[in-house]
Formats: sequence, structure tokens, C-alpha cells
Amino acid sequence: MIRSRIVGTGRAVPPKVLTNDDLSRMVDTSDAWIVERTGIRERHILDPSLAASDLASEAGRKACQRAGVDPAAVDCIIVGTVTGDCPFPATATFVQKKLGAAPGGCAFDLSAACAGFLYGISIADAFIRAGQFKNVLVVGVEVLSRIIDWTDRATCVLFGDAAGAVLMTAGDDQSPGRILSTHLFADGNLAEILWQPVGGSREPSTPDALAAKRQFVQMNGREVYKHAVRNMAAGARLALDTNGFKPDDVAWVVAHQANLRILEGVSERVGIPMSRFFTNVDRYGNTSSASVPTALDEALEQQKIKSNDLLLFAALGGGLAWASAVVRW
Ligand code: ACO
Repeated sequence: MIRSRIVGTGRAVPPKVLTNDDLSRMVDTSDAWIVERTGIRERHILDPSLAASDLASEAGRKACQRAGVDPAAVDCIIVGTVTGDCPFPATATFVQKKLGAAPGGCAFDLSAACAGFLYGISIADAFIRAGQFKNVLVVGVEVLSRIIDWTDRATCVLFGDAAGAVLMTAGDDQSPGRILSTHLFADGNLAEILWQPVGGSREPSTPDALAAKRQFVQMNGREVYKHAVRNMAAGARLALDTNGFKPDDVAWVVAHQANLRILEGVSERVGIPMSRFFTNVDRYGNTSSASVPTALDEALEQQKIKSNDLLLFAALGGGLAWASAVVRW
């Protein structure tokens, strides 16, 4: 049986750090408030001279290196992002050029907000099992600092910039890193509880729209919190049930790092203790589609994940869109 498998991971995190204390000098907030409500202590901010494709290419290059795959052999690039270089063309095409990936391969972006990376590995899994592409690079990248209102304390404390990537190829039922299942969900009835209204065809970037600050992330935090816990937990449970696994079988949950309280809620509902959730939200904040691959890469670097471990992925974000996946490492 053909399985797709993850053969390399990489991440790129901008060097500039913005701490909670820095933020408390910009808006009416405090380190204590942010840590208590979110678990976030600092986040990284991309230099203004760089764009999403720069971070994505760096993460992608590292994933190829770890996989031992020449970027020239990458025939498909999927970039999950809501903060791409520009509305079109796809950020993935800039990544293709910067990486030196095979010209004539395919390259496209997908918009599923914080679930973008898991949507990406699901599509890559289907492409690989169908034999359509051989070396698929899936990247989650966000430069959320560019779409945040830095005078709005309700949102600006939550987000950060980063990229994470995996290189996927074909394997079989015994291959390490194999994808056992993916599940994708969305509920457009909730599209407007977390969104960026201005910048598309619905509300173009007119001077009035910009003056009303509608080019920045708008969020109903309480509603997002409620749906995030409920739906990430439901997606995670379905992923386990589909494969006949119990919570105890899971070695590590690598979930979207939205905030620590959301992860604690998911932990309680799924019945997997927080000690088996990998977390790095304290150092990166919420990096949306970049958070799951960044966490996976860091967990591997710290040698927390061992051969044959069962990994459970879950994420939810704007759309609302959410997803889960199970991987045998
Ligand atoms: N510093 C200090 N006070 C603040 C801040 C801040 N940064 N932000 C809001 N407050 C104030 C509010 O003004 C309010 O004051 P009031 O009572 O005088 O009106 C008070 O704190 C409580 O505000 P709430 O919004 O009710 O606070 P809540 O306990 O809901 O926490 C939070 C807010 C952390 C945003 C929470 O709702 C949450 O975690 N939501 C999920 C949001 C999220 O993770 N979004 C990321 C994108 S989606 C995803 O990735 C899943």
C-alpha cells in the first residue's frame, strides 16, 4: 500500500523578539495578563525588508536538506498562508524560484488560516498516493505582524511571525513518518468571528476602509476560544477513532499553538494529558499555519519524538477551518 510520508522538516523564525514587556509599553496590557490568559511570553517579528516567501524558502530549504532531497527535485509546493507576499501570484511561486525547485512543477497557496498546514499535508498525501507528484514541499508561513493593529490590545498580544515546512514523498505501510489519516472540516457560518475584511473584492483597500482599520485582523475572542476547544477536540477524537487508537496510544500531540488555555481545554476533552502536548506558544505566540510544522520541527530537534511514536495533529483557525491528522513516526 502506498503511503505518503514526512521525510524532512524545517523552520524559520525571524531573529527580532517582541516581549510582553515591550507590548506593555505600546498598549494598555501587562506580562501577567498575557501569560495568564494565553501562556505567551514573547513572539518574533519579521524585518520589514523581508516577506513571507523569504521565511518560507528558508524553512523549505532546511526541510529538503534534512530529507536529503535536492530542491531541484521538488515537483510540488503547497503554501498555507493568509499573509502571502501579495494577493497574486501565489507565494508558492516565489518560493519555487527562491528555492531553485523544478520549474514546471506545480506551486500554489491555500487559504485555511491556522489549519492551512494540515490542509496542505492532506492534499500532499492525496497527490502522492495518486502518483501525481513525487517530492511535495508543504509550508505553513505567516507574517501576521503585517495584518495586526498594533494599537488593539485584544489582538496584538496574540500573534507572531514564522514558517515551518515538511518534505513529503511516497513510502509504504512500514515507512517512518507515514500519514495514517487526515480529516478536514470547515463551517462558513462562523467566517466572520475571525477575519481580515479589507483587501479583497468584497471590501477593497479604499482610504475609508483603511481609516476604519478594517485591513487588520478582527476577532471575537470568546467565540473563537469556544469553537477552537470544541472542534479541535472533536477532530482529534475522530482521527483516533478512525484508526482504532485510544488516547493512551498517542506519544505526542502536535497541535496548533493558539494559546495554552485552548490546548488545555483540548487536552481535557480528548483525555490526553498536557505532558504529552508539545508546546512552544510561550516563545512564538500564535503563528497560524506555521505553528504545527514549527512545533513538529522543534520537537524533533529536542529529540522528544522517538521512532515509531504515534503523533496526533490538530488545528483550527479562521473560516472556521479545522483539521486533524495521525502520523506514525
Ligand atoms: N491586556 C489587558 N487587558 C485586556 C487585553 C490585554 N491584552 N485584551 C483584552 N483585555 C481586557 C478586555 O478589554 C476586557 O476588559 P473589560 O472586562 O474591562 O471589558 C477583559 O480584558 C476581558 O476581556 P475578554 O476578551 O473577555 O478576555 P478573555 O478572558 O476572553 O481572554 C482571549 C481574551 C485571550 C483573546 C481569549 O478570548 C482567547 O484566548 N480567545 C481565543 C483567541 C485566539 O486564540 N485567537 C487566535 C486566532 S484563532 C486560533 O488560532 C484558534
